[in-house]
Amino acid sequence: MLEVDIGLIGLAVMGQNLALNMNDHGFTVAVFNRSVTRVDEFLAGSAKDTQIIGAHSIESLVSGLRLPRRVMMMVKAGDAVDSLIGQLLPHLSPGDIVIDGGNELFTNTSRRMAELASQGILYVGTGISGGEEGARQGPSIMPGGNPDAWPQVQEIFQAIAARVDDQPCCDWIGAGGSGRYVKMVHNGIEYGDMQLIGEAYDFMRRGMGLSQGQMAAVFGRWNTGVLDSYLIEITAKILDFVDDEGPTLERILDRAGQKGTGKWAGINALELGIPLTLIGESVFARCLSAMKAERLKAAAFLPGPNGVLIGQAEEFTAYLHDALYAAKIMSYAQGFMLMREAAKAYGWQLNYGSISLLWRGGCIIRSAFLGDIKQAFDNNPALENLLLDEFFRDAINQAQSGWRKVVGKAAELGIPTPGFSAALAYYDGYRSASLPANLLQAQRDYFGAHTYERIDRPRGQMFHTDWAGNRNPKLDDQP
Ligand code: 6PG
Repeated sequence: MLEVDIGLIGLAVMGQNLALNMNDHGFTVAVFNRSVTRVDEFLAGSAKDTQIIGAHSIESLVSGLRLPRRVMMMVKAGDAVDSLIGQLLPHLSPGDIVIDGGNELFTNTSRRMAELASQGILYVGTGISGGEEGARQGPSIMPGGNPDAWPQVQEIFQAIAARVDDQPCCDWIGAGGSGRYVKMVHNGIEYGDMQLIGEAYDFMRRGMGLSQGQMAAVFGRWNTGVLDSYLIEITAKILDFVDDEGPTLERILDRAGQKGTGKWAGINALELGIPLTLIGESVFARCLSAMKAERLKAAAFLPGPNGVLIGQAEEFTAYLHDALYAAKIMSYAQGFMLMREAAKAYGWQLNYGSISLLWRGGCIIRSAFLGDIKQAFDNNPALENLLLDEFFRDAINQAQSGWRKVVGKAAELGIPTPGFSAALAYYDGYRSASLPANLLQAQRDYFGAHTYERIDRPRGQMFHTDWAGNRNPKLDDQP
């Protein structure tokens, strides 16, 4: 009898916890792992006393699945996924559904969706956020791919997802690699949020000389207002954490790791021509942190201020709060701007209000703030940029004085704040009716006859000036 609801391949931390979560919600799950001892260990360990069924081959996993078959892969992104699909295909029939839940590059998902569609297999690439605890208790799920698959996976996905105001943090994102893309932007924003929190911590530590306990209290307070979020909450807990040897954070090497999703967001932003500066700076800040040996040499060699604020601790704590809030708004504005451009470029219909809703719970960037973003898109689904929403305009207006003070003071004290500064430069650039790109265009025309448009002539009409007196005969400089 075919009675298994879903097959899951890949029993690393995320795979195991998703299987347990599905089991909790009454779904029958069969699991398989390339090294099969892990299947047995899982069944004897955390899956003991559950309905989860172990399989020792792909064939036996697939043979028990009810029709249409649903197989979810939780394996390493890239070639491993292609190879697994190759092994699965001989056991599948048209109408069956293959789901990839790893952190995969969206173009791979689009490609696989098209390849499998030609064989009648419905492919889904889904973002899943929330780490180990999220996977177990309720993650945020961002599925995209073949739209015919959604009715087949909706019930399971929405049952296991986190819920906010009794709504599941899971909805269909769209075609092709759109689900993966939205998860990539989520991760980029995660990088941005973490960078900004790190800069606030660094300013308090280096610039204000606060102890870990004092900083934990500041973050704890911030977590009760507009900055209320998972990342602020865990930062307060990390700062408070003391082991047998003292505060753990102080002994952690300051070299950041990264698995690549932030980098993908930056690369794609460059391709689409979107100023994703905050996420870009956050990726580069991780790269700079990783050059620890070089930084140690430079620290002994390069002059510059290493100043400390005298007094003003209370004011600057409030300014830092505002800088964090305002810069965070810039980061999300940029992330949503990128998604809007991607939707145009790749032909997706993205619902930005729904995306903010499904990021409100379960995921790493979950925060109260996402409710305000949802509201902004509810008020105007065609909103070009979050900064053009009145709520956010007023919020930035209130925060900008403190934000500017932090950026200025950090420069004076020699504390790097690439996130706060890039965010401010973006804000001032975005609100500038006039930028120095006129000079840039003149330079391009001067050295390369690249031509320019004029403010007093129709857009698209190109001009060239004979700047050096060497007239280029091929170009007409006057209409
Ligand atoms: C999530 C996270 C997760 C991510 C890790 C590590 O949403 O649960 O984004 O998907 O892989 O946080 O990412 P980095 O190693 O790139 O920091």
